Amino acid sequence: MHCVQEVCPQIFWVGGNDRRLERFENMFPLPNGVAYNSYLIADKKTALMDTVDSAISALYLENVAHVLKGRTLDYLIVNHMEPDHCANIEELLRRYPAMKIVGNKLTFQFIEQFYHFAARENYLEVKEGDELSLGEHTLRFVFAPMVHWPEVMFTYETKEKILSSADAFGSFGALSGSLFSDQTDFEGVYLDEARRYYSNIVGKYGDQVQAVLKKAAGLDIRMLCPLHGPIWRESLPYILKKYDHWSRYEPEKKGVVLIYASMYGNTENVMNLLASKLAEKGVEDMRMYDVSKTHPSYIIADAWKFSHLVLGSPTYNMGLYHVMEAFLHEMAALRLRNRKVAVVSNHTWANAATKCMLCELEKMCNMELIGKPFEIKSAMKACQEPELDELAAAIYASLQQ
Ligand code: FEO
Repeated sequence: MHCVQEVCPQIFWVGGNDRRLERFENMFPLPNGVAYNSYLIADKKTALMDTVDSAISALYLENVAHVLKGRTLDYLIVNHMEPDHCANIEELLRRYPAMKIVGNKLTFQFIEQFYHFAARENYLEVKEGDELSLGEHTLRFVFAPMVHWPEVMFTYETKEKILSSADAFGSFGALSGSLFSDQTDFEGVYLDEARRYYSNIVGKYGDQVQAVLKKAAGLDIRMLCPLHGPIWRESLPYILKKYDHWSRYEPEKKGVVLIYASMYGNTENVMNLLASKLAEKGVEDMRMYDVSKTHPSYIIADAWKFSHLVLGSPTYNMGLYHVMEAFLHEMAALRLRNRKVAVVSNHTWANAATKCMLCELEKMCNMELIGKPFEIKSAMKACQEPELDELAAAIYASLQQ
């Protein structure tokens, strides 16, 4: 049975949800599932904005057929050629053989790399700023390279002033009936997942997001329709401001995230003691993560949110404990920057962890070291407490700046 919702007159949401998928991109946990959005405009000409993941193809195709009511599909706009949004192109071509596939040069290159059908006579290549009239609705193509892949484009619908924004402004988390963010408790249900989605999926491309935000500023936008998560028709400045913050790598909040690896609890003990000392000074809402326990995507999301990080790790095989090393590698790959960082390390006979963590931090941009790295040998001793107090004082002083 179809499950379609009207977005506005003549424009319909024909997407769906997947609550069974364990991991997005086979990497990121999805405790609340994920939505795959697709939008169908039923004007004189019909146009479909992206498809969905293969997991929900059956429902999707039923949704499309329901809106078309026996009409043909004239255009399929491919804003993003990642398989979670384009798994149904071949089946749509089978059903609607005259359908034009609208994309750019890279879109078609990627179609031919991913799939094994030749439909070049169906290609309609567009360039930045090109327009396509459907009747009352006109679509304008706004290229958004590297948000999140190089072929990405946004489609601006000029009558209702809707921006189909590909992965941008999206979120993990399935839709629970409500399509619009104003119908949800967005901050309670989606905000953390939107940040986790942004930081881990698009985070590396902050400069490109900034570029497209500047382009978007020149458009009169009444609705933002991402490919995942709720649609924005109210409070657009709220999500645009979040994106501006995130893509400038500026923390949303002054606060501390303590991130540690600990084999036998001794490094963890230092982190707990340090956090207690900070709490006594009045620091609130700290987060603490064991990198061996919590999926890195959650830690990355909080590193994006907060201003101060404390990293703690033992030396392992004359290098860095590999789970912490992988985490820092991910942080560097996503180009997180502009944070203040304190370092705690542990070793039993030779210290490599301090050097390795500092070396990883040097690969990142504008990461400011707070205080002196705090080093323990196997376990912290009472005589080291004044030194830990100094580090707590330095972190606290930095938070006050
Ligand atoms: Fe939702 Fe970049 O794919």
